[in-house]
Amino acid sequence: MNIKEALNQTHQDLENFLEAEVLLKSCLGIENVELYLNPVRHLSRYELNLLEEAIEKRKDHLPLAYITGEKEFYSLGFRVAPDTFIPRPETEFIVDAVWKKILDPGSLILGKDQHPASSIQHPVIVDLGTGCGNIAATLARYIPHSKIYATDISKKALEVAEENARRHRVEDRITFLEGNLFSPLENRHLKGKIDFLVSNPPYVIRSEIDSLMPEVANYEPRIALDGGEDGLSFYRRIIEEAPKYLKSHGYLVLELGIDQAPPVKEMIEKTLEFESIEIIKDYSRIERVIVARRTVIGNQ
Ligand SMILES: C[S@@+](CC[C@H](N)C(=O)[O-])C[C@H]1O[C@@H](n2cnc3c(N)ncnc32)[C@H](O)[C@@H]1O
Repeated sequence: MNIKEALNQTHQDLENFLEAEVLLKSCLGIENVELYLNPVRHLSRYELNLLEEAIEKRKDHLPLAYITGEKEFYSLGFRVAPDTFIPRPETEFIVDAVWKKILDPGSLILGKDQHPASSIQHPVIVDLGTGCGNIAATLARYIPHSKIYATDISKKALEVAEENARRHRVEDRITFLEGNLFSPLENRHLKGKIDFLVSNPPYVIRSEIDSLMPEVANYEPRIALDGGEDGLSFYRRIIEEAPKYLKSHGYLVLELGIDQAPPVKEMIEKTLEFESIEIIKDYSRIERVIVARRTVIGNQ
């Protein structure tokens, strides 16, 4: 079988041309252009076996990213493994939110008389639940003087995250820490020092996990999905602790699930520790990211 025939066959089997292309490229270890440059090149027995196995796995709903071991996020390639959540395009709005605050603080929520965040030359950023490190490594790549602390409860996810940081040559600016939310930060003298506290926490309602598409329900790590009985348990914990860690005018930036913006906003307001809250919609007009600015603390 040659490349052209293999592509047609894979397309037929998966009923999805884009996936067929990705799978074939991954099994042959080639780039896009090579797929079409030499369509009559025959596949070796080894390559055919790889492809057949990959098609079967995909038909069993194993996510494409776990088969290829790769996922793109913010135009950067990330290795993913079964122990890591697969980065989603909507999470890029977290990176955008931080990036916009640093570049153009006036464009989002700052009033004229408020202290601009443009003074943030060397931001200290915390990423809670870093997974494969996509948010942390992307921020480190695009914000050259940032110092980032990335935590996760999963040791295996952190190993992948460290590999991704090395891949993007930002490992010297990210400290990876294993543990439960803020606990690995406790003795690091970070209280009142954080400019941006970001997180895409687990936020699926526990009883709804099994009804998600099989790609997610059967294969993505439960600890990356399970947001407790009402899906909000991580927001409660993060919002309670965040004020201790954020500096005056530091930002809390959280990804949200569908319909979670109102309750999360209310939680943030109730603390009386934040002065302005903005909600950013994603490509589908879903309220996806909440950005809250810490009020001025004491004499800071
Ligand atoms: C939805 S995933 C987000 C992964 C990645 N940051 C992203 O946006 O694609 C949530 C992550 O939180 C981690 N996690 C779950 N419970 C945690 C906890 N108690 N403390 C720290 N991390 C936790 C999971 O292992 C998972 O990597």
